[in-house]
Amino acid sequence: MKKQLSTINYQLSTMRTIFVTGGAGFIGSAFIRLILEETSDFKIINFDALTYAGNLENLNGLDETRHKFIKGDICDKEAVLQSLPENSEAIFNFAAESHVDRSIASASEFVLTNVLGTQILLDAARAKNIRRFVQISTDETQGSLPEDSNSYFTENSPIQPNSPYAASKAAAEHFVRAAHETFDVDTITTRCGNNYGQRQFPEKLIPLMIANAMNDEPVPVYGDGRNVRDWIFVEDHARAIWLAYLKGKAGSSYNIGARNERQNIEVVKSILDALGKPHSLIKFVTDRLGHDRRYAIDARKVETELGWKPITTWEDGLQKTIRWYRENQDWVNQIRSGAYRDYYKNHYGMEVGAK
Ligand SMILES: NC(=O)c1ccc[n+]([C@@H]2O[C@H](COP(=O)([O-])OP(=O)(O)OC[C@H]3O[C@@H](n4cnc5c(N)ncnc54)[C@H](O)[C@@H]3O)[C@@H](O)[C@H]2O)c1
Repeated sequence: MKKQLSTINYQLSTMRTIFVTGGAGFIGSAFIRLILEETSDFKIINFDALTYAGNLENLNGLDETRHKFIKGDICDKEAVLQSLPENSEAIFNFAAESHVDRSIASASEFVLTNVLGTQILLDAARAKNIRRFVQISTDETQGSLPEDSNSYFTENSPIQPNSPYAASKAAAEHFVRAAHETFDVDTITTRCGNNYGQRQFPEKLIPLMIANAMNDEPVPVYGDGRNVRDWIFVEDHARAIWLAYLKGKAGSSYNIGARNERQNIEVVKSILDALGKPHSLIKFVTDRLGHDRRYAIDARKVETELGWKPITTWEDGLQKTIRWYRENQDWVNQIRSGAYRDYYKNHYGMEVGAK
């Protein structure tokens, strides 16, 4: 990671401010760690509402002289305007309701944060003369690809979301585009595949499987388990976002993927094998409504235009991730003993973390 970032020659001597929303979540906190470690002239304002998915423990050990946390909601225009310094270098918008299953149960919160919240940030960017706006989007805005095909999402693939989560992120992408076209806001949109790594909330596939398996609990797999996702290690995603910010063309979008397609069932078996747990823990459950079959990303644009390549292989990334969850069982257990238990019981009809 160091190599690619250190090739970028930072000329400025004074500290520059970037405003990161959702930085107490999984990817936002990994991004902040990367910037603090790999650069020396950026300081970060981390603006996060601390929803169920936000966790201050994700920020433990950060250099507080360069990182300031502000608890705030991106839908609160006054709070955003008060917290965002005039002439900041950039806004990186990670804040979102991010779980597809929750969006199927109730979509309104997704419309509020993911759509209205993004528009409020775009307005704030104009009001405060922010140099660049980076919207962290997802491959899910481009819908689902056929199984066993050679088709991939490119930057020119149509936006055709299928889940309420994806629809809200797609709407946000449109507002970002509109801000660029109408008001000449300098925008970048990144669309990434499924992330995995340290500090991911255990409702998502990989940490859910690790946490349940570590506790010898059934691991629920949707449908036939053959849905395909294009997995990327979170630090590789964070680095691609940073390069898109530094080198991307205003108004452009960048699809980010590590060319790592896997069926869910293959991912689950790899995790069980790595933990030395039996495959009999696998429990097939009723499929998710409208479950997208396959995501796969054509990463040629980020590779050629930005000079980005993933550094972490799937095998190393999975080992690192499993090790982190093993060594941070308090982090996991704290979540599994709270409101997450009720959510899990409602959703899967099974107990979790009861011990
Ligand atoms: N996880 C993935 O695989 C993936 C893939 C591609 C893109 N993305 C996108 O990356 C971003 C981050 O995803 P993540 O997995 O880290 O999500 P996450 O759910 O772990 O974190 C989201 C963070 O946003 C905060 N937040 C939520 N609503 C807010 C609001 N109204 N105001 C301020 N803060 C708020 C939460 O407190 C939390 O800290 C999201 O925009 C998501 O759509 C995620």
